[in-house]
Amino acid sequence: MTSGNLLTDHPELYEARFPDPGRLAGRWTEDRLRRYGAGPAVLDLGCGTGRDAAHLHAAGRRVVGADLSEAMLAYARVHHPGPRYVRADLRDFSLAPGPGPGSGSGSGAGASFDAVVCLDSALLYCHTNDELDGFLASCRRSLAPGGLLVAEMRNGAYFLGRNDLLDTPRYNALSWQGTSYRSMTTLRVDRTAQLLRRTRVWTADDGSAPVEQHSAWRLLLPQELRHFLASHGFTVLELHDGPGPRTEPPWQEGALSTGSADADRLHVVARLAG
Ligand SMILES: C[S@@+](CC[C@H](N)C(=O)[O-])C[C@H]1O[C@@H](n2cnc3c(N)ncnc32)[C@H](O)[C@@H]1O
Repeated sequence: MTSGNLLTDHPELYEARFPDPGRLAGRWTEDRLRRYGAGPAVLDLGCGTGRDAAHLHAAGRRVVGADLSEAMLAYARVHHPGPRYVRADLRDFSLAPGPGPGSGSGSGAGASFDAVVCLDSALLYCHTNDELDGFLASCRRSLAPGGLLVAEMRNGAYFLGRNDLLDTPRYNALSWQGTSYRSMTTLRVDRTAQLLRRTRVWTADDGSAPVEQHSAWRLLLPQELRHFLASHGFTVLELHDGPGPRTEPPWQEGALSTGSADADRLHVVARLAG
């Protein structure tokens, strides 16, 4: 058995496993940005394959996509061109939109972003409180006054008293470039670290050795998120469990939010003090 991250090392496989042909995540994000009047300069943190960043670019925004994975960035530059793609760690970064039209309204042309977006639980790669502080301090440094944070992630509160997603392996299969892949995924709660830990084992019918992959996400509770945001100068504009791009039923234009934070996804829009 070898270890690694099969999906982030193979972005094509990532898009095959998590297809978003209608660009729901990008459309939801653009809808939030418009609703709250965000300016054009946007930073997509944990941009992955770049499909959301490219959607925002096509909607007329000037986008920087940032990710830790060189494989993701290389794929994004080829398959979802338009945004500028850079390597950065969302737990501690210093990024600017760069010179050009549509720069943030902060301390000069190209100095700051109008919005930071962080989709599909990328924010939850901040495992510790210090890392969450690092993320929000970096966002604050990079945003113009009044700038937005738009994020979408798993909801830690879902796991309070529910274990339907935990401890039992789930199986998935997909075919990609003539090879059949099968994955076995198990989630467990690490209460001490307040993390959701995932073990995923991939097997393929091409004779290659199984690949075991370990990931973890912070189990962030809605009220905890409010507290972190407030302590970094953000005011929460919305915080709810849906509808969103990864809820059932999925978000569609004009949908009203539930107002609750009980289901397994969390959506937040917050504004930095002006
Ligand atoms: C679940 S994917 C989400 C990708 C994209 N936002 C989407 O919604 O399709 C998470 C991404 O976060 C990236 N990532 C993980 N840890 C990171 C970190 N510390 N800083 C920046 N990116 C990170 C991974 O490489 C991966 O591309």
